[in-house]
Amino acid sequence: GGPVEVDISALRPGEMQLTEWRGNPVWILKRTPEMMQSLAKTEGEVADPKSERFYQLPTPDYAANQHRSREDKKDVLIAVGICSHLGCSPSRKFEPGDPSVPATNWQGGFLCPCHGSTFDLAGRVYKNKPAPVNLDVPRHMYLSDTKIVIG
Ligand code: FES
Repeated sequence: GGPVEVDISALRPGEMQLTEWRGNPVWILKRTPEMMQSLAKTEGEVADPKSERFYQLPTPDYAANQHRSREDKKDVLIAVGICSHLGCSPSRKFEPGDPSVPATNWQGGFLCPCHGSTFDLAGRVYKNKPAPVNLDVPRHMYLSDTKIVIG
C-alpha cells in the first residue's frame, strides 16, 4: 500500500495510537515531558543510540537523534511495532521501574513477549538483547499539527 493519513487530534500526552501501514502495526506515541527526559537516562544503555542501523526501513535523517522524531514534533514517536529479532510485536510497559521488565535501568518503553527484548520510549533496543536493532521509524510528515502522513 501507499502512504496513510492519520488524524492524531484525540491523542493526549502519555497515550499511544495504533494504525497500520503496509500490513504492519504502526505506533504513534505522544510522550510527556517526563517520558522525553527518560531518553537521556537510557542513552548509555541502548545498543544504537543514534539509529545508525535499521531493520527494514532506513531511519529518516530527521529521526536519527535521541528522540527519534522530527525536531518540531519532538514529543511524537512514530514507530513500526515489529521486533527485529523474530518479528513479534512488543507490548507497552510504560511504567518506570516495572519489576516484570528485564532491564537494569527501566525508564518505561516496550517489552517483546517472545524473547525479552526491551526498548526505550524512543523504540531504541537495550544492549545485549536478542533484537539486534531499534524499532523502525517510517518516513512521515505533518500536514498540520494533528494530521500525519506515514510512508
Ligand atoms: Fe522479539 Fe525475539 S521476537 S525478542
